[in-house]
Amino acid sequence: MELINPLVQEYAEKFSSAEDALLKEINDFTTTNHSEYQMLSGHLQGKFLEMASMMIRPRRILEIGTFTGYSALCLAKGLTDDGQVHTIELRENDAATAKGFFDRSIYKEKIILHTGDAKKIVSILDETFDLVFIDADKSGYIEYFNLVFPKVRKNGFIFADNIFFHGQAIEAEPSGKNGKAIKAFNEFIINRTDIEKMILTLRDGLYLIRKK
Ligand SMILES: C[S@@+](CC[C@H](N)C(=O)[O-])C[C@H]1O[C@@H](n2cnc3c(N)ncnc32)[C@H](O)[C@@H]1O
Repeated sequence: MELINPLVQEYAEKFSSAEDALLKEINDFTTTNHSEYQMLSGHLQGKFLEMASMMIRPRRILEIGTFTGYSALCLAKGLTDDGQVHTIELRENDAATAKGFFDRSIYKEKIILHTGDAKKIVSILDETFDLVFIDADKSGYIEYFNLVFPKVRKNGFIFADNIFFHGQAIEAEPSGKNGKAIKAFNEFIINRTDIEKMILTLRDGLYLIRKK
């Protein structure tokens, strides 16, 4: 399902600030060299993550699903002076690629990259988060939410990506495993009373959640 009219997408990109040089390099590198390049947040969503982080001014950010490092660098832009991003990537190759880019950025000292399964790593992080970005395996979203929720401060935010799952989540009976998992996550979120929530119709859908 085509979710965003390509002309609208092109217009929005044209009238938004351009990606900085390193982000453009990550985007180009990933598109050329990675078979799953479409997983990268990209220009508009990246700019949104940067803007949101600038508004929140988080001291601690957690990202689940680093991939090649694009979104972690966007999120890092809003950190306080003593701020840090913890970002978790399961696959060693992707983590190594991301590390190469982090090492060349001004946020090198502020981004802590963990390689391994987020389901194990989140529970050992002794932090209180102002902002969490969930963007890993779709079947894990409910578990990630339950793991991070106690570590998010009151009025802190959780963002979750791919909430339409290419339109499958909107279907009555999604055929794919990931579409089913996202649909279940969305139903889990809407039924909770301890959070404020809204879906931003950006790219593949982004859930914005605030802990009450
Ligand atoms: C959609 S991509 C992330 C894209 C990235 N946030 C961005 O916007 O550029 C999802 C990533 O999550 C990783 N992943 C999948 N399962 C994971 C797990 N259990 N723990 C940590 N990372 C995981 C995948 O290897 C993949 O690199």
